[in-house]
Amino acid sequence: MTLTEKNIQANGINVSYVEEGVSTGVPLIFIHGFPFNKEMWSAQLTALSDSHRCIAYDVRGHGNSEAGAAQFSIPQFADDLFSFLDALKIDKAIIVGLSMGGYIALHAIKENPARIAGLLLCDTQCASDTQEGRDKRKKTIAFIQKNGLEVYTEESLKNLFAPASFQSKKEVVQFIRNTILKTRPESICLTLQALADRAETCSLLGQINVPVLILVGKEDKITSPEVAEKMHGLINKSELKIIDNAGHLSNLENPEAFNEQAKSFLSRNFSD
Ligand code: MLT
Repeated sequence: MTLTEKNIQANGINVSYVEEGVSTGVPLIFIHGFPFNKEMWSAQLTALSDSHRCIAYDVRGHGNSEAGAAQFSIPQFADDLFSFLDALKIDKAIIVGLSMGGYIALHAIKENPARIAGLLLCDTQCASDTQEGRDKRKKTIAFIQKNGLEVYTEESLKNLFAPASFQSKKEVVQFIRNTILKTRPESICLTLQALADRAETCSLLGQINVPVLILVGKEDKITSPEVAEKMHGLINKSELKIIDNAGHLSNLENPEAFNEQAKSFLSRNFSD
């Protein structure tokens, strides 16, 4: 599906997004992981647009959205999300967030639960970084500033995919390689710092009172099924589905299973 890219001003920056689907019902807003962009959701927009209004946007500094002058942080990205919704005149949305997208979604529901009708939390977690994780991100920032993105990209790919995907999903691996290499190194470094500084959201999960679907690749090395299980235990109205043949990028590595679970959850909880 080829989608026309659109732009809108929100929170003082130009936000790039794509939109597809029906005009009725609660819209789905897709938030990508780090360091990717809205293009990672194209199979989901194709699969879900016959039943939903689907919008995928580029987080500040990623894809074709401007970086602006504000300091990158998860609270800033959540604030940007609400401004984006305001700009599109959307009162309430179902948020689909993968990894960093999930961190943003969880922060957003903490800030303004009235505007979120449901959550699809994909390959994400509620914990903040450990001190070891923060130190690692700091070293990565210094490494990228000195050496650029190439070595960083190859190292990242090793963690992002299930081992079999390197053979069975070569085009997806190449797509993600290109996506990372196209991202501005300054944005990658600023976002690494934002990820390192993020607060935990596990303590708010008990207050979430909307339907939540948690999806995780069976071979996710970054946010494992155990981590997803923990979130599931803390969120009252949550379902957990493990996606076979997938690592951290479950929507790209096994789009069929991912879309089937998403469709089933949406039709059970949000059909008019
Ligand atoms: C992501 O996919 O968004 C990242 O793996 C998140 C992280 O590094 O914590």
